Amino acid sequence: MANNLLQGKKGIIFGALNDQSIAWKTALHAHAQGAELVLTNAPVAMRMGEIHQLAAAVGGAPVIPADATSVEDLDALIRGAMEHFGGPFDFILHSIGMSPNVRKGKHYTDVNYEWYKTTLDVSAISLHKTLATALKRGALKEWGSVVALSYIAAQRIFPDYGDMADAKSLLESVARSFGYHYGVAHKVRINTVSQSPTVTTAGSGVKGFDEFIAYSESMSPLGNADAAACADYCVTLFSDMTRYVTMQNLFHDGGFSNTGVSQEVIGKFA
Ligand code: NAI
Repeated sequence: MANNLLQGKKGIIFGALNDQSIAWKTALHAHAQGAELVLTNAPVAMRMGEIHQLAAAVGGAPVIPADATSVEDLDALIRGAMEHFGGPFDFILHSIGMSPNVRKGKHYTDVNYEWYKTTLDVSAISLHKTLATALKRGALKEWGSVVALSYIAAQRIFPDYGDMADAKSLLESVARSFGYHYGVAHKVRINTVSQSPTVTTAGSGVKGFDEFIAYSESMSPLGNADAAACADYCVTLFSDMTRYVTMQNLFHDGGFSNTGVSQEVIGKFA
């Protein structure tokens, strides 16, 4: 396998909580392909300090805390990254999701509306805030690439995904809308990757996750894509090999999204 897909490229990785996180694996894979990184997460997520192990593993990357709902924090992050990199940079991974309603077991039909706003702000509007801040600061180079992680509940009902489904629909819409404006202005591309269910802290917070991941596995011709495979896909999207891909929601799910039913699943009803 090539090991220089991201040679000379620089970028910010949001959302590496622990070594299961999709962002953690993406940071490792991007570094292995030659990228220089700045890492960030919400200040509360840094209490355990695990991110500093990752920072050391990716060549001593700076860690700049930022709550992705705070434009002030995001501005400080973008400025800090530009200072570190010595100017504009090439890519951003948005790997952020959180719903207080899902966490606290609130049914979709009975959400707490303040929490609902938090779900949308943390999981979707944060992408808009990040892009708007980057645009104002001239932070991304031409042909730069932004990837945010999504889930197929944006298109189809998965009852236990609750208000996160609405957040993912909004996230995908922001990628499309901002992708137009950023593309016209600076040739920056913006995509969402719609990932298989994956064993991580955020994933396991969804009710019935173990059964669900098994169902998804049996409905996907290639099986579920894991976090490491997702990291590889994100690396290709940051690379120059995908320069004309933008404003897309890209399924990285082993074929789940185009499978009506599998023989394995139908066999359970025989
Ligand atoms: P994770 O729990 O490791 O990552 C979620 C991250 O969001 C954490 O690092 C957390 O600190 C960060 N975060 C939460 N609130 C934040 C805030 N206010 N500011 C900045 N960061 C904040 O879990 P995972 O699975 O790696 O999640 C990454 C992305 O992948 C999320 O968007 C998630 O919805 C998405 N995804 C996950 C799937 C799964 O089954 N695990 C499937 C499809 C998409």
